[in-house]
Amino acid sequence: MDVITLLKKDHKMVKNLFEEFNNLKSSKIQKKADIIAQIKEALTVHAQVEEELVYPAFRENRSMKEQVGEALEEHHVTKILLGELDALQPDGERYDAKVKVLYEYLMHHVKEEEKEMFPEAQKRLSSKRLAALGEEVEARRSELLEGNEDGGQQERENMEEQDREAREDMEEEGGLVIEKEKEQRSGRRVA
Ligand SMILES: [Fe+2]
Ligand SMILES: [Fe+2]
Repeated sequence: MDVITLLKKDHKMVKNLFEEFNNLKSSKIQKKADIIAQIKEALTVHAQVEEELVYPAFRENRSMKEQVGEALEEHHVTKILLGELDALQPDGERYDAKVKVLYEYLMHHVKEEEKEMFPEAQKRLSSKRLAALGEEVEARRSELLEGNEDGGQQERENMEEQDREAREDMEEEGGLVIEKEKEQRSGRRVA
């Protein structure tokens, strides 16, 4: 698949996820968090392949340097917004507003890519080059997604470990309380 078609498909997929988020009732907190996690993963991988493979190929053309520079700055702002969203709770007051700003900002970026940058690239790069770039992007994307899956596994294991430790601490504390109660009942002083 040529790189332009591929990137547009990604844009559409992320747009659909935002629409799904917008159509949710505000009480569906877990679902909201799940969708945002999917958006974050898709955007992170998408931005990375653009930055590593697509933009460098585009900017070989002097006429595209400025567009690529602007797009990189927009990626930068998008990452800041995603980071800020991470720090908020999905049931918090500012969450939905932040998602909305992210969505609007992103749609502006996507529009510039699809209406200005991609048509220019189609003029400047041969269809053979665009197809080869598409293959590189697909391969790199699979690699990044596989890495994320392993990372997710590691994260789950860490969380399970933390849960187990917390349970053990609670059990220990519970044991201490029982000990103290026994001591109190038997009239001994409690340290
Ligand atoms: Fe894009
Ligand atoms: Fe982009």
